[in-house]
Amino acid sequence: MRKKSKYNVAIMGATGAVGEEMLKILEQRNFPVKRLVLLASARSVGKIYRFHGQDIPVQELKEDSFRDIDIVLASAGGLISKKFTPIAVKEGAVVIDNTSAYRTDPEVPLVIPEINPKDIKKHQGIIANPNCSTIIMLVPIYPIHKTHRIKRIIVSTYQAASGAGAKAMKELEDQTRDVLAGRPAKKEIFPHQIAFNLFSHNSAIKDEGYNEEEIKMVQETKKIFHSERIKVVPTSVRVPIFRAHSESITLELAKVPELQEIREVLANAPGVKIVDDREKNNFPMPLEASGQDDVLVGRIRLDISNPKGLCLFVAGDQLRKGAALNAIQIAEILIGRRDVVIANPEQNK
Ligand code: A2P
Repeated sequence: MRKKSKYNVAIMGATGAVGEEMLKILEQRNFPVKRLVLLASARSVGKIYRFHGQDIPVQELKEDSFRDIDIVLASAGGLISKKFTPIAVKEGAVVIDNTSAYRTDPEVPLVIPEINPKDIKKHQGIIANPNCSTIIMLVPIYPIHKTHRIKRIIVSTYQAASGAGAKAMKELEDQTRDVLAGRPAKKEIFPHQIAFNLFSHNSAIKDEGYNEEEIKMVQETKKIFHSERIKVVPTSVRVPIFRAHSESITLELAKVPELQEIREVLANAPGVKIVDDREKNNFPMPLEASGQDDVLVGRIRLDISNPKGLCLFVAGDQLRKGAALNAIQIAEILIGRRDVVIANPEQNK
């Protein structure tokens, strides 16, 4: 991307849960924005957002929305991305796409800045932001992969409503109120009651009985780690939490781990914060992870059933590091803003 002092940025899906977070993070990180364009459906025209003290009206997403736009942050769903990304790229923009539309496309880099920032250089107009559960799993375990080589990952997720968008968060709130008031819980977004319940992830079941969310975690890990050999076996579950995902992770390593060494590796890992107080029984929780940039990691313990095994419990904000923050960190690398990026130093050499 041609270096400029400020960039024209469009958020596609600006009124959604991730879109609104993108707007906040652009302001918080003081991203060099010249003009900000907020795009959503015709339903949202009339809405106004504040950005650095200015009122910005939402515009309807149309084919001519990308004129003079340098960077598009896309989070309006896979079908919308498939339709509008080629148009934006043709207009000269780089699209950082938070949907699953291009993640497995071999021509499109799939990037977590702490892991594979160099892949950004290979882009041809589109860079994909990984699935939220994949990001929250890989940020803390990548440094362990570097020192002990991970052979297999066994992971169970506890995923918040935010992953299904703003309407799903509202559904959790409304159902909770309804159930407490003795009214029937209305289901519109999720197939089952989410309040006071949990269920297997609501994406479609595909091959071998795995749902789409689980398949994404398998495929995306291989692509981001540049390793076809790494094995991943996930179970994805939706829980009645607003915005942070948690995951129970068991790793099978090539080398016998020592707890002290693993703790040191995690303490030095970018984007990771250790929350591991055995005495106080205080470990990563979604409430504490919400609003934080770091992925919290704890329950750090050896696997008593396997000498080369290691167990962890993590929690990370799905809307921030799991989506909007990761996308904006990619944009920061794209524009060469190295001062704020926490990236894998080895890859940056
Ligand atoms: P809108 O609010 O106008 O429906 P979430 O994932 O939180 O549900 O957000 C989805 C985002 O994608 C919202 O900003 C939503 O806008 C936007 N969106 C959904 N459908 C369309 C569409 N057909 N055209 C443009 N934006 C869309």
